[in-house]
Amino acid sequence: MKAPSLKLPSLNLSSLTLPFLGKRGTIALDIGSSFIKLLQMGQAKKGWELQKFAMAELPPEAIVDGSIIDAITVTNTIKDLVKEHNVRLKDAVSALTGQSVIIKKVSFPAMTEEELADSIQWEAEQYIPFPVSEVNMDFQILGVDTEGRGQMDVMLVAVKKDVINDYTNVIKEAGLTPAVIDVDSFALENMLEINYPVAPGESVAAVNVGASVTSISIITGGITTFTRSIPTGGNQFTEEVQRQLNVSFKEAEDMKTGRKEAPEGGSLSSIIETVSTNLAFDVKRTVDFFLGGSQGTYISKIYLSGGGAKIEGLLNLIQDKTNIPVEMANPFKNLEVNPRHFDMEKIKDLAPFFGVAVGLGTRRFADR
Ligand SMILES: Nc1ncnc2c1ncn2[C@@H]1O[C@H](COP(=O)(O)OP(=O)(O)OP(=O)(O)O)[C@@H](O)[C@H]1O
Ligand SMILES: [Mg+2]
Repeated sequence: MKAPSLKLPSLNLSSLTLPFLGKRGTIALDIGSSFIKLLQMGQAKKGWELQKFAMAELPPEAIVDGSIIDAITVTNTIKDLVKEHNVRLKDAVSALTGQSVIIKKVSFPAMTEEELADSIQWEAEQYIPFPVSEVNMDFQILGVDTEGRGQMDVMLVAVKKDVINDYTNVIKEAGLTPAVIDVDSFALENMLEINYPVAPGESVAAVNVGASVTSISIITGGITTFTRSIPTGGNQFTEEVQRQLNVSFKEAEDMKTGRKEAPEGGSLSSIIETVSTNLAFDVKRTVDFFLGGSQGTYISKIYLSGGGAKIEGLLNLIQDKTNIPVEMANPFKNLEVNPRHFDMEKIKDLAPFFGVAVGLGTRRFADR
């Protein structure tokens, strides 16, 4: 494997600028609505090595629809993870989901990255439905115009300051520094880049099924050119089981994940199949929408991740509906993992949850 390159995208919606993260080392902190994932990755002889690996569950009401409702519980859960796993590094790289950010592909006059960084406030005003003073922004240049129109495509990303403050505050309260705030789909691009190299011009899709949101992005030649988030994830399955079998959220969650026996009659599998089919159609519609606007493009593979992707049968349904090969991504595929330090069975079992976190872990060497 190649050493991590600086080509990795380097969005940062945090207002901090810490240019020497590489020297200081960072931890990846994926604050999901259902599980907080923490990783520490270091540079090995050839690529990356796993140094710390941890995960803790949040109660369902702590983060709802991407908003932190119970900041104290979230803070304490992070603190406990840091303590329990003896984490000494302070700089945290986190991500928001597409649900809480505005992502727009826009065309700007061709200019350098530095020039755009200086003028982004003015250039972006017309594309953002809030005053620019109320948002943090960053951008990714998608490619310089080759047709001589003097224009370039840019992925513009903005987030309301109050949303970012809620996340940076829990990180600070937990004793860490919110060094980088990324977006989950861009983190997934980095995860795929180190594990599943593509041919130039090849398009793949990343589908991360979380608890509350499914993020879909299309990556062409290693660059994210399209993202969409669907407000359906693992919770939808649990809520449907809860409603139809008339049980509590906790009981429904346990039945869904096989920790508790479902009542006789086989209705659990049919409930799961119905929700899976709807989600598979949502993925198909998104992919079709992208392909409709991109003549001559096809998607060679869909990489699935997220805890919600562990639903039995979902992978095959997405494959059937989209007619595209689907593979469960292994975010640790190209990471060195020392079997003397980690339980390899556990890593394999929990790998789908860590797609975003591994992508965030790569940010150590690529920051502006
Ligand atoms: N074995 C399993 N089978 C099916 N679903 C599972 C299993 N284990 C966990 N899940 C589901 O995975 C989801 C959690 O995944 P993940 O940690 O990726 O979400 P999150 O990052 O916390 O959520 P979000 O990104 O939407 O805020 C939950 O809905 C949980 O019920
Ligand atoms: Mg998530």
